[in-house]
Amino acid sequence: PDIYLNGQFLRPEEGKISVMDRGFLFGDGVYEVIPCYAGRLFRLEHHLQRLDSSLHAIHMTNPLSTAEWQAILQRLIQQLPGTDQSVYLQITRGSTGKRDHAIPKEIQPTLFAMTQPAIYPDEASLTNGVKAITLQDNRWHRCNIKAITLLANVLLRSEAMDHGASEAILIRDGQAVEGATSNIFIVKKQRIITPPKSEHLLPGITRDLVLELAGQQGMPFEESAISEQALNEADEIWLTSSSKEVMAVVELNGQRVGNGKPGPIYSQIANHYQAYKN
Ligand code: PDD
Repeated sequence: PDIYLNGQFLRPEEGKISVMDRGFLFGDGVYEVIPCYAGRLFRLEHHLQRLDSSLHAIHMTNPLSTAEWQAILQRLIQQLPGTDQSVYLQITRGSTGKRDHAIPKEIQPTLFAMTQPAIYPDEASLTNGVKAITLQDNRWHRCNIKAITLLANVLLRSEAMDHGASEAILIRDGQAVEGATSNIFIVKKQRIITPPKSEHLLPGITRDLVLELAGQQGMPFEESAISEQALNEADEIWLTSSSKEVMAVVELNGQRVGNGKPGPIYSQIANHYQAYKN
């Protein structure tokens, strides 16, 4: 499919940006990943709101309105009718033609968006669950910004893969905060727990939806810190993200979580999630 770049729809190989772009030189930019189910952009307004918060945090403003983004993204997804998709958009600060860390006053942002076919949910992971390991969180202290600067996340996720796990659950100051590419939940004595929003985790759109669904269904939940010990002793562990939806962790650091299968509360929330989607 065609991509969107700075006002134009182009073949991917036609899309060119300057090597002086601050996104390329400094990772100076922010992004969003938005699921598209059956031609519908899922929770688009939430994603665009978070985009605005990320931009605000890096001293930028959104150059386009919600309606303008909507028109661009609609045009992209219409290229793959009837296909579930993963839509990516990114805004970098742009280029002034020279490399200087200081933020320039006059600069035009670079706007990019694309779509790819996606399979939601991944059936095997949904039924069997996935493996995770814990790693020390060595990222910065502004993890609530959805920054394209993802080297720490890339290395952490890769370390998890080297251990045969699909995700790294990150520990900061003895607390489990989130995954390298997802938010985390545990279940203890039927109660759903996820860490409160802070500068140490991304305010996930899927996380918020899971809490919303739990509330609607009268499932007990709380937003409170999860110690490393509580994580190790959890009855269930879940990961959430726009690409994973809700996924059960059945093995943590080589140890079974619960009975080693996705748990009963997981099955409930996963069903509610599927029902909400459709
Ligand atoms: N990642 N935490 C981190 C560090 C993430 O990178 C993501 C998502 C999430 C979940 O957020 P959401 O539910 O809004 O997708 C939490 C995306 C999918 C990515 O980088 O590809």
